[in-house]
Amino acid sequence: MENKLQKSKCLLPQKEKLSEKLTLQSKFDKNYYFGGIYSNYDEFLDWEKIAKDLIKRFKFDSFLDIGCGCGNLIKEIKKQKPDVDAYGIDISEFAIKKANADFIFLADCKNLSFKTNRFDAVHILGTFSYLSTLEEIKQAMTEAYRVSKKFILFDDVYIKPDKESDDYDPYRQHVFSLKEWLSFWREIVEKDDIIETFKDEIIISKA
Ligand SMILES: C[S@@+](CC[C@H](N)C(=O)[O-])C[C@H]1O[C@@H](n2cnc3c(N)ncnc32)[C@H](O)[C@@H]1O
Repeated sequence: MENKLQKSKCLLPQKEKLSEKLTLQSKFDKNYYFGGIYSNYDEFLDWEKIAKDLIKRFKFDSFLDIGCGCGNLIKEIKKQKPDVDAYGIDISEFAIKKANADFIFLADCKNLSFKTNRFDAVHILGTFSYLSTLEEIKQAMTEAYRVSKKFILFDDVYIKPDKESDDYDPYRQHVFSLKEWLSFWREIVEKDDIIETFKDEIIISKA
C-alpha cells in the first residue's frame, strides 16, 4: 500500500502547472465519454433512477455534483425536483460544453469557488480516484467537506476492474478499498460527524 502511494505521488509535481491542468481538461474529451473509454456516457448509468433514489433518501434544497461529467445526474435531479438549487462542476471542457447549462461549469475539485457550507448535499461519484496523488485527493475531500452543510455522498470503484468490465478506465489513477476511503474521510471530518456506508456509498452526515 505504502509503495503504491509513494509511486503515485511521483506522477505529478506538487504544484500542478497550468499546462498539466490543460492536459487534464483535454484528456477527458469526446473520445473519453463517447467512444474511446465509455461507449455512450449518457447511457452509462440509469441517471433517472439514481436521481429518484437520492431525492427519496436525502432531504436537500441545494446540491453539488463534483466531477459531474456531462451533467446527466444534475440535469435529472433538476428535472425531478425543479426548485432545487443544484450545480455541477467538472474539469473537462468537452463535458461542460456538452452539458450547456449555466448551473454546470468548469472547475477543479481541489479548489472550489463556493462559500463554506453552501450546499445541503455534496455528491462525488467516481471523481477523486482520477487525481494524481493522495495529497490531491485529501485536498479535494477537504474542499467537498468545506462546501457541504448536511451530507456528503461518496462512491468510487473499490476493486480494480478487469479490462473487460464496464468500470475499467485507464485514466483512473487509484483504486482504494472502501475501508481505505473510509479512513481518508475520517481524517477530514469532525469527530461528531456520522460516517456510514450504504451498499457502495459512503455517507457523511455533518453534526
Ligand atoms: C468516470 S467520470 C465520472 C463522472 C460522473 N461523476 C459520473 O458518475 O458519471 C470522472 C470525471 O471526473 C472528472 N475529473 C477528473 N479530475 C477532475 C478534477 N480535478 N476536478 C473536477 N473533475 C475532475 C472527469 O472530467 C470526469 O468527468
